Amino acid sequence: MKKKFIVIGIETSCDDTAVSLVNQNRNVLSNIIIHQKIHEKYGGVVPELAAKLHDRNLFKAVNRAISSAKINRNQIDAVSFTLGPGLIGPLLVGASFAKSFSIGLRIPLLSVNHVQAHILSQFIQEKKVSFNESTHPKFPFLCLMISGGHTLIVKVRDFFEMDILGSTLDDSVGDAFDKIARMLGLPYPGGPKLDFFSKKGNSKKFIFSKPLVNGLNFSFSGLKSHILQFIRKESKKNPYFIRNNLSDLCASIQRVIAEILLDKVKKAISDTGIFRVSLSGGVSANDEIRRFFLEKKKKKWEIFIPKKKYATDNAAMIAITGLLKYEKNIFDPIDIPSYSKFKKF
Ligand code: KG4
Ligand code: ZN
Repeated sequence: MKKKFIVIGIETSCDDTAVSLVNQNRNVLSNIIIHQKIHEKYGGVVPELAAKLHDRNLFKAVNRAISSAKINRNQIDAVSFTLGPGLIGPLLVGASFAKSFSIGLRIPLLSVNHVQAHILSQFIQEKKVSFNESTHPKFPFLCLMISGGHTLIVKVRDFFEMDILGSTLDDSVGDAFDKIARMLGLPYPGGPKLDFFSKKGNSKKFIFSKPLVNGLNFSFSGLKSHILQFIRKESKKNPYFIRNNLSDLCASIQRVIAEILLDKVKKAISDTGIFRVSLSGGVSANDEIRRFFLEKKKKKWEIFIPKKKYATDNAAMIAITGLLKYEKNIFDPIDIPSYSKFKKF
């Protein structure tokens, strides 16, 4: 690899158009995200609209990423992009853009699995912090990967050697957050709003029972229906129930979700004997979940949580994963197909 090496990352798997540049030291040179606010009024992401807006915004995002990194286009050495999983229309817009970029600049193409990139976001290197074991987990480690699309416990043996130990049998935890928030009348995406309202709430006011699921798998659909029934029953007695108890409801719901996640990680630790745990994915931006896990640092657990800007969807994690693939000489042909469903790592 050249002494100075720059990878561009392009992320368009859902509703954020994201572009980032990273260098050979895993430093982020720029990290641009253009949010598509339009989906709020539909209560969820409209795939066709998202694809159209990626098409409109990508060129702008790339130019912003290049100018904010103070480089010129010809200094980019490789292009990485999200191949899947995600919404196929939005993914194809990003893939076509990345492939044209690779052909136009005659630079290698590196395709990235979005879920793997969330896990590897752990290896983004802050500029002025030296790389060491307290900032990055040593292999092997366990990753609790919690996002809108996925809920997994993964054993990470190396950058590209990962085993799924557990996953959700129904909804993802991010989906549960968003759907429960909608029941409470909060706008999409509900996760961050539920997090916000819970700050002033009493998390012990309402007790919701945890689902009984064997092994390291998760299930959130039962909890969701239980909360829905509870809210309906209470709202019949008092139409202002939600309004009068919003903060306590949010805090109590968040607490039970954090407990479910922590219980499973505890089990994964006792099953594997691995005490190094990282969190990744959009839901790991949740303050209560972060606090729950960080408290465990006092035990002999080692906990690694990315900065919030690298927990939710971003292109720095795509560029870093591309860089790591480049270092291992893993390249892709130009006709590599995008995919919407997660298959394997
Ligand atoms: O990783 P991500 O940005 O996109 C996917 O790959 O799915 O995750 C999005 C999910 C959404 O469900 C969103 O509500 C949730 O992450 N989320 C949160 C918080 N921030 C984002 N959930 C709870 N608390 C938060 N602070
Ligand atoms: Zn994501």
